[in-house]
Amino acid sequence: MSDRLTGKIALITGAAGGIGEATAELFAREGARVVITDITSARLEKLAERLEGEGAEVLVAELDVSSPTAWEAVVERTRERFGGLDVLVNVAGIVDWPGIEDTGQEAWDRVIAVNQTGTWLGMKAALPLLRASGNASIINTSSVLGLIGSGAAAAYQASKGAVRLLTKTAAVEYATRGVRVNSVHPGVIVTSMIKTILDEQGDRQPDIVRTPMRRAGRPAEIAGAMVFLASDESSFVTGAELVVDGGLTAH
Ligand SMILES: NC(=O)c1ccc[n+]([C@@H]2O[C@H](COP(=O)([O-])OP(=O)(O)OC[C@H]3O[C@@H](n4cnc5c(N)ncnc54)[C@H](O)[C@@H]3O)[C@@H](O)[C@H]2O)c1
Repeated sequence: MSDRLTGKIALITGAAGGIGEATAELFAREGARVVITDITSARLEKLAERLEGEGAEVLVAELDVSSPTAWEAVVERTRERFGGLDVLVNVAGIVDWPGIEDTGQEAWDRVIAVNQTGTWLGMKAALPLLRASGNASIINTSSVLGLIGSGAAAAYQASKGAVRLLTKTAAVEYATRGVRVNSVHPGVIVTSMIKTILDEQGDRQPDIVRTPMRRAGRPAEIAGAMVFLASDESSFVTGAELVVDGGLTAH
């Protein structure tokens, strides 16, 4: 265990998924006490066991990020167990691939509810504890698809673009109130979200071909960016968009 996050209490959403799990693992290894959450807790229990086996303090909580009452309950449980909160990492997300005309209303609403509204609800619910921390960090997960258009995934792109600017306005609002707010923008990362595509297309997948490093990223490579933004190493970084994409958006 290293100690870049020692003394910090961090809540991570989507912690049963690829990027969320890698983030929880690295946060725990760096000394954070972690609240690991996802829409169902089944896969979180194993993760908690592993982290506790390595000496970490872990709270497992079910949390549907689109539910304001669920957010309130999880923040309250965090306060009861750990006495506060220093870091919120909004990772939970879903994707819908169709473009403008083929996107259904229901799919649109769900993607916006989880990715966009869920990020706002999380910040809103956690901010009283984060402000009380006096040295807090919020990290919101956007995407390269929050920066550039792909010609598909209409709802997803809209939601990730919104996360980018929600992050910036929150950064400005809380800049002198002890809360930094930044977004992370992953490129193509090997997780269950894009497993089918990668299984079918492998390294011939067009976004990988367009990635100057010619490969997909690993969840741990996103977790490293999360740790930097959560730690005091980034004490003058707020409102930033940290792109972790093997160069995909560099050209
Ligand atoms: N994998 C990529 O290539 C990639 C690229 C850019 C951005 N991202 C973003 O990274 C984040 C993590 O994605 P991932 O790649 O690890 O995918 P993933 O599917 O492995 O993980 C997403 C997690 O979010 C959880 N989740 C879904 N709806 C939820 C809800 N309503 N409440 C709480 N949890 C919910 C899922 O159960 C899952 O565990 C997402 O926001 C995604 O949009 C991923």
